[in-house]
Amino acid sequence: MHLKEFKLEAEALFSETVYGHGFLHYGYFPDGQPEEPSLIALGEAQQVYFDHMVSHIPEDVTRILDVGSGTGANAKALMARGYQLECLCPSEQLNRMARRKLPDVNVHTLSFEDFSSDARFDMCLFAESFHYIELRSALEQAARYADKYVLIFDYFRRRHREDRGDDTRGTHAAFLETVKEMGDFEVVSDVDETGLILPTFWILDHVKNARVRPFVERLRGDLKASSGIRPFVFEKVLSRVAKRAAKPSNRHETFPQRHEYRLILLKKT
Ligand SMILES: C[S@@+](CC[C@H](N)C(=O)[O-])C[C@H]1O[C@@H](n2cnc3c(N)ncnc32)[C@H](O)[C@@H]1O
Repeated sequence: MHLKEFKLEAEALFSETVYGHGFLHYGYFPDGQPEEPSLIALGEAQQVYFDHMVSHIPEDVTRILDVGSGTGANAKALMARGYQLECLCPSEQLNRMARRKLPDVNVHTLSFEDFSSDARFDMCLFAESFHYIELRSALEQAARYADKYVLIFDYFRRRHREDRGDDTRGTHAAFLETVKEMGDFEVVSDVDETGLILPTFWILDHVKNARVRPFVERLRGDLKASSGIRPFVFEKVLSRVAKRAAKPSNRHETFPQRHEYRLILLKKT
């Protein structure tokens, strides 16, 4: 398992057990930075993100394919609003969580690139999942399965990275170019929401720098000073994780330099 998958599954566990909702996307802060940089504020802002995203679903949509459905939290909340859902996500662990919430929904365990079905939907939804998928495959599959719309709420890189070796996590310019070249969609709306997502990182940086880091550094110091097998086990097994946790974080500064977070609605031509 890759570290990224492990991180997602750990975040899913946290989101389900602490917040109860299970959202895996960032928070959305239309009123700016909250007074306190607390995880509770972040959990609430994830709900605001969902509400904001839903307000952009066109009225003639009923059937939705939730691509990268995570723990099924978006799908569950969408069903409560009367939509019909099908879910797709490559992680079996996340899908187990989704099936618990959605016993009557089809939850497919595969990547969108490998999805093959006779089913068709009014809209394909990508809630912070578009950047995981190779750009052209994502759009070609969306053109196949969405009869009317594609809604993307996700981030793009500001600059192309030659060294990535694949076409995931691309730039917004490359996205627009591919949409134009394919000719299957027109862009109905395309809004830069980076500033309203950003307090997510202010909170996470604060939690890490002011809480987790001092805790881990103290723990490392105590363990190094102790005798017996514990310092050895710690160095061998946990030191990489602890070193990572002890690194200062400033994503609230680096995220907007490297990424733009956008809400995009495409309509089938
Ligand atoms: C950040 S999570 C977002 C989950 C959910 N949409 C939400 O808003 O809470 C990204 C999701 O995309 C999924 N994903 C990763 N690669 C994918 C792929 N190639 N095709 C479809 N989904 C993928 C992950 O497993 C995860 O469920």
